[in-house]
Amino acid sequence: IPEHSLDRDCTTLSRHILQQLNDFSGDAQDLSAIMNRIALAGKLISRRLSRAGLMANVLGFTGEDNIQGESVKKMDVYANEVFISVFKQSGLVCRLASEEMEKPYYIPENCPIGRYTLLYDPIDGSSNVDINLNVGSIFAIRQQEGDDLDGEARDLLQNGHKQVAAGYILYGPATVLVYTIGKGVHSFFLDPSLGEFILAEENIKIPNHGSVYSVNEGNFCKWDDSLRDYVRYVHRHDSYTGRYSGALVGDIHRILMQGGVFLYPGTKDKPEGKLRLLYETAPLAFIIEQAGGKASTGKEDILDVIPQKIHQRTPAILGSCEDVDLVKSFIQ
Ligand code: AHG
Ligand code: MN
Ligand code: MN
Ligand code: MN
Repeated sequence: IPEHSLDRDCTTLSRHILQQLNDFSGDAQDLSAIMNRIALAGKLISRRLSRAGLMANVLGFTGEDNIQGESVKKMDVYANEVFISVFKQSGLVCRLASEEMEKPYYIPENCPIGRYTLLYDPIDGSSNVDINLNVGSIFAIRQQEGDDLDGEARDLLQNGHKQVAAGYILYGPATVLVYTIGKGVHSFFLDPSLGEFILAEENIKIPNHGSVYSVNEGNFCKWDDSLRDYVRYVHRHDSYTGRYSGALVGDIHRILMQGGVFLYPGTKDKPEGKLRLLYETAPLAFIIEQAGGKASTGKEDILDVIPQKIHQRTPAILGSCEDVDLVKSFIQ
């Protein structure tokens, strides 16, 4: 971002959201307040990450495993709790569902005022934290349906079209927030000196085709023949190049801006792949589709998938229309 001068028109995230919500059918005030809280969580996490190497007890593992069977990092716990604490006393959401919590976290004092649920991946790409590479946070907002008296959150087991808003925060050299409320995709840079997210690009459109394919080829031997044929195809054609960072948010952001395709397919032993639907692939699918791209499991649109459980995984192919179609043409 260039130096802020007084003549520069700085649109802050909060102003942008209010403009977007002008003709919004739902409760615009609430949604705008929720987005501002998410931005606050992003600022807190960004600040912690930027000092991680200087402070004790920020890097490394906690020694625990999460419900996914993964070793939990201290940053996973910190970021998970940041989202809880920014929403706890807000009256805005009554449940939070996260990668790091087996069951949703209920805030009964916010019910029935807050009729929204926040679904989130507090730190995406945790393996990058200890080596100072990019990580992200992913979020989606859904309206609570019914009273959820038994605390099973069954109303969350619906397709991705139920998302009211979604987006991600990428903690890279700069911190970027990208969101949609179903009216295009918009990006904002965090100006640390102002503590504000400043509009960078409105109505982002993903190119129809890009040269990047982003996949963990370490899994090659575990894939179906069709997928291996696709990768052999891109290997044979000069116009493709591989990029894979180990943090979905970073890889998707590159593809959103420059085109291409991200894949996390199922494997022989894990047909659903690794990525989780409710707080990873569905929010990113909402973003990519709003930007004019496609998001598929290989069999159906990610946004059409109805999960059986909160932590359900889905295979994922997201990106430029042409490139997603090319992958699908191998699968079918
Ligand atoms: P998380 O750190 O939230 O558990 O997510 C990790 C995800 C995603 O960010 C990344 O694209 C993928 O896992 C990397 O997995 P592999 O190491 O299996 O490629
Ligand atoms: Mn994880
Ligand atoms: Mn993740
Ligand atoms: Mn995570």
